[in-house]
Amino acid sequence: MAQLTLQSAVKLNSGYSMPLLGFGVWASPGHLTAQSCVYALQAGYRHIDTAQMYRNESEVGDGVREFCKQSGVKRENIFVTTKMSAPEASHDETMTALKASVDKIGLDGYVDLFLIHSPRSGPEGRQALWKAMEQLHAEGKARSIGVSNYGPSHFEEMRAYAKIWPAVNQIELHPWCQQPKVVEYCEANHIAIQAYCPLVRGEKAQDPTLIRVSKKHDKSWAQVLIRWSLQKGFSPLPKSDNPARIEANKAVYGWELDEEDMKELEGMHQGASGALVRVAE
Ligand SMILES: NC(=O)c1ccc[n+]([C@@H]2O[C@H](COP(=O)([O-])OP(=O)(O)OC[C@H]3O[C@@H](n4cnc5c(N)ncnc54)[C@H](OP(=O)(O)O)[C@@H]3O)[C@@H](O)[C@H]2O)c1
Repeated sequence: MAQLTLQSAVKLNSGYSMPLLGFGVWASPGHLTAQSCVYALQAGYRHIDTAQMYRNESEVGDGVREFCKQSGVKRENIFVTTKMSAPEASHDETMTALKASVDKIGLDGYVDLFLIHSPRSGPEGRQALWKAMEQLHAEGKARSIGVSNYGPSHFEEMRAYAKIWPAVNQIELHPWCQQPKVVEYCEANHIAIQAYCPLVRGEKAQDPTLIRVSKKHDKSWAQVLIRWSLQKGFSPLPKSDNPARIEANKAVYGWELDEEDMKELEGMHQGASGALVRVAE
């Protein structure tokens, strides 16, 4: 494994680079999101994950612009993702909704990654939305496009119509929900994997195995989970609106989990019952 650093990135099949450590903003209240993004960017994160459904796309854009202004860091060095769940009634309306997100985020007229949030709109809905996303990409408004919560069957279905192969699949991933079939499929098919709920929303903070591994390394349970995700080759998206946690969650470099730790954590897999949100099958 190449040494991981805060700057570690994966080259997507679109040709663009995606910083591995991301910053999630689901359930971040609008009045905090911009400031939390500024804290995260000041701490060195360079990848932010929002969605239409989170209702904070504008605030993410505000935070990134504010940080760029105060730091001199260029917008092109920050990777911003958003997502749309289902197509509208017509292609034109879907295009309007996609572009509305790009405009709300307001960062030089493009997002780095646009994802289909969920496969739930059915085969026709998925195809219609993908077609619109391909057009958005062709117009330069989304540098890369991808999906979320997709399983192998959803990808196989895309072979019949996709002109662009998805760059990313964003799925729930942590030791209790490892989705091995989806991970294996993505790795074999050049689809980068983003890990959502990498902290299991704090629900496993008291787990004895996790506590044991944390104590062994003198790290927090949250740092161990983020490090586990990075060592698996995923792009974890921990969320926090707490400045001290934002800072602590990125202190996952310069030490590593050994083989025994990784195996112990992997031993906690519970299949679908370990998922907080959903498995992608
Ligand atoms: N594509 C999808 O369907 C999907 C679904 C779910 C999530 N996501 C994405 O993935 C991101 C991460 O998932 P998530 O937000 O559901 O869960 P998460 O990152 O696993 O956990 C976030 C929770 O953990 C707390 N927390 C953060 N750092 C902590 C620390 N060091 N110690 C103790 N508690 C800590 C946060 O509270 P504070 O804010 O108070 O620190 C928050 O309540 C989301 O924000 C979103 O961007 C995508």
